[in-house]
Amino acid sequence: MSDLITLTIDGHEVHASADSSIIQAYARAGSALTANIGCMGQGVCGSCRCMVRKEGERDVTTALACETKVEAGMQVSFIDYFIPEHIQYYDIKEIGDGWNWLDDTAKSFPEAQNCRHCGGCNRACPKGLEVENGVAQVVMGDFGAAADTFDQCVMCNLCTLACPEHIRPNHLGLFARRMKAARTLRPVDLMRRLREIDSGKMRVEYEEEAV
Ligand code: SF4
Ligand code: SF4
Ligand code: FES
Repeated sequence: MSDLITLTIDGHEVHASADSSIIQAYARAGSALTANIGCMGQGVCGSCRCMVRKEGERDVTTALACETKVEAGMQVSFIDYFIPEHIQYYDIKEIGDGWNWLDDTAKSFPEAQNCRHCGGCNRACPKGLEVENGVAQVVMGDFGAAADTFDQCVMCNLCTLACPEHIRPNHLGLFARRMKAARTLRPVDLMRRLREIDSGKMRVEYEEEAV
């Protein structure tokens, strides 16, 4: 036990080896991972969002538990999935040839223009994305740049949680990525593969759904 460190996760004292991620420490402590886990440590699903306070520090930061190593005295609280009060609806099929995208954006995401540049979303983002900048890019109509800004977004929702203007930056980023994809030439490898599947040349086997 001497080489184990002690930390607190969701109010439980946990002992873990120093090379563990928070998720690994929690699992090895015998906790059933029934929430806040999706991609099992790949860092791509955003489910393991949590708040972390390190020993001796006053600040609480946000993190992905599967990408964050444990430290002695660390306090961790997972953040449950939540449905925001304000949900933006749009139908990408109704988006026209692109000349009205500024209007489409203002209609679907009117609150985006109220960004107060507080930087809360940047500080909350565990992927280190320039979220505030991405919001401004969408509002200005630079969808290509915004799609790149949000390219590594894992939809953890921490920026949405942080935003005092209910902007939901990650969904604005997804909107930009969808807009770009809807008006961009398709990847040729994907087109070929889809044609192989449609023609039966390539078989795709699905598992029977459990009843
Ligand atoms: S942009 Fe928002 S949802 Fe995407 S990774 Fe950063 S904090 Fe998470
Ligand atoms: S948290 Fe909201 S208001 Fe603040 S900079 Fe980010 S998008 Fe703008
Ligand atoms: S479990 Fe998917 S990002 Fe951590």
